[in-house]
Amino acid sequence: MRSSKWLLPVRVLLTYQVLLLLLRQAKGEESHCTSVAGMVKLLDLEAQLIDNLEDYAVELEKKLQTVKRSITSLRLENDKARGSTEDYLSNPLNSFSLIRRMNRDLITWQLYLDDPVGLSQVERIQELREHMPTHTDVEEAVTALDRIQNTYGLKVPEIAHGLLNGKQYNVSLTVLDTYAMGQILFDQKNYMAAASWIYQTVVLMDAFSLAAPLEISKNEVRMVYAETLLKLNQLADALKVVNIALTDNPQDIKLLLKKSEIETMIRTGTNNAPPVKAQATVGPTAYQVGCRGQFPPSADSKLYCLYNRTTSPFLILAPLKMELVGLEPYMVLYHDVLSPKEITELQGMATPGLKRATVYQASSGRNEVVKTRTSKVAWFPDGYNPLTVRLNARISDMTGFNLYGSEMLQLMNYGLGGHYDQHYDFFNNTNSNMTAMSGDRIATVLFYLTDVEQGGATVFPNIRKAVFPQRGSVVMWYNLRDNGQIDTQTLHAACPVIVGSKWVCNKWIREREQIFSRPCLKKRM
Ligand SMILES: *[C@@H]1O[C@H](CO)[C@@H](O)[C@H](O)[C@H]1NC(C)=O
Ligand SMILES: *[C@@H]1O[C@H](CO)[C@@H](O)[C@H](O)[C@H]1NC(C)=O
Ligand SMILES: *[C@@H]1O[C@H](CO)[C@@H](O)[C@H](O)[C@H]1NC(C)=O
Ligand SMILES: *[C@@H]1O[C@H](CO)[C@@H](O)[C@H](O)[C@H]1NC(C)=O
Repeated sequence: MRSSKWLLPVRVLLTYQVLLLLLRQAKGEESHCTSVAGMVKLLDLEAQLIDNLEDYAVELEKKLQTVKRSITSLRLENDKARGSTEDYLSNPLNSFSLIRRMNRDLITWQLYLDDPVGLSQVERIQELREHMPTHTDVEEAVTALDRIQNTYGLKVPEIAHGLLNGKQYNVSLTVLDTYAMGQILFDQKNYMAAASWIYQTVVLMDAFSLAAPLEISKNEVRMVYAETLLKLNQLADALKVVNIALTDNPQDIKLLLKKSEIETMIRTGTNNAPPVKAQATVGPTAYQVGCRGQFPPSADSKLYCLYNRTTSPFLILAPLKMELVGLEPYMVLYHDVLSPKEITELQGMATPGLKRATVYQASSGRNEVVKTRTSKVAWFPDGYNPLTVRLNARISDMTGFNLYGSEMLQLMNYGLGGHYDQHYDFFNNTNSNMTAMSGDRIATVLFYLTDVEQGGATVFPNIRKAVFPQRGSVVMWYNLRDNGQIDTQTLHAACPVIVGSKWVCNKWIREREQIFSRPCLKKRM
């Protein structure tokens, strides 16, 4: 009887942990995982949570010590009495004290135990919840990891053990991580991928000991694994999983029911799951090959490197290291265009104002947030500060284009698996609001502000070219043909970042002002 009362703090602790788990609450805030810069504050938040948990432990400890001390003195008195019951109770002082204790002290104890521990810490958690990642954030993070896996053809056990695209990192996923991957991919009906992650969870489970509130049962995971296999129509395998679970828990009613359900399915040849199309083992797409850095080197002898002094008088004094990447479309790479100091300044300018990047949607005629583009951007008008003025002048020098009427400088930071699916930069819509003023996007100038440790290439699948980010370099290409028509060879994508923080800055140059600079383009034809 006594022991159940002392369990109270444990119950409170559980309540607290349940609260922790409820942290995932949708709150129309900016998504968390779409930029590395944006995720920095999550670490601060986590530190606050840990401090809070520690404060809570201190409160619990205080109460625990109080209770323990009292037990000692109470037990002492009680033992003394029970050593010589008659003597003890025949003394009126003892009798009085006992009666008083058992009445008044008992009530006081009850109130004390009933008094919740660490209420202020529980309230603090409630406050912090406002700033925590939402379930949508977790879903996006799952999608991002899944995207990295698919694009680079990685295996789940490798990812779980920190082996990313052939490079071993001293990081690994916990069993809760792999399980969440599996569960959410399952919810997204991506059963193939879910099965790998849940299987990985089963494999990893023995190696992990989790704090009680976060514990997951092996049974539960095996059950989910069996469900996933059923979705994939792998009835025999599902039955095998349930049977293995049953050897550990022969009496488990849910498992027994599942077993007979699957056996019936096998016998009658029915399965409630919709039939899955057998996934044809097709090779990687051109985009994936490009992202993996597997395009063959160009055999075009017309490509060369030089110091370009021709575009503007400025370049005669300060020639740019130029590398011709391709002619159809015309594409060049410039090296060492930005100084480290300029890069730091650009990142500092952009960080406070980074917002989720949008894409122009012809259907609505507006720019919208879409899943195919996960990064955060900030825009800067040409005359924003001396640096933007200098940068725009440099772009003019490099390209020979007049930037009047072109778009603002766009600074971007990609986060977890950050990418931009295959797209064109041109609008291909002469009547839209987007092109009415200054024409379509004749050229794209893309500055790389950072090296990216792994992934993050700019890939042009149609012409089989991939440009990997190099700090301070710039790639520039023409989106329109000489006759002003769109050039579909410019289809391109930003591959998912595997490891690193990818910062880019770009400028979309508009057509209207380039009437006089186009001839230099015609000359090469
Ligand atoms: C890997 O990380 C752990 C702690 O996270 C550290 O104790 C260990 O020394 C690291 N190993 C290597 C090879 O860096
Ligand atoms: C142009 O913009 C206006 C207002 O922003 C909008 O109402 C209209 O639908 C747009 N037209 C096109 C063709 O996008
Ligand atoms: C220098 O760069 C400009 C712009 O990219 C280009 O038009 C010009 O042909 C380049 N000069 C040489 C010699 O390649
Ligand atoms: C460009 O627009 C035309 C007319 O709407 C359409 O037929 C064509 O498929 C579009 N091309 C691309 C690459 O979007």
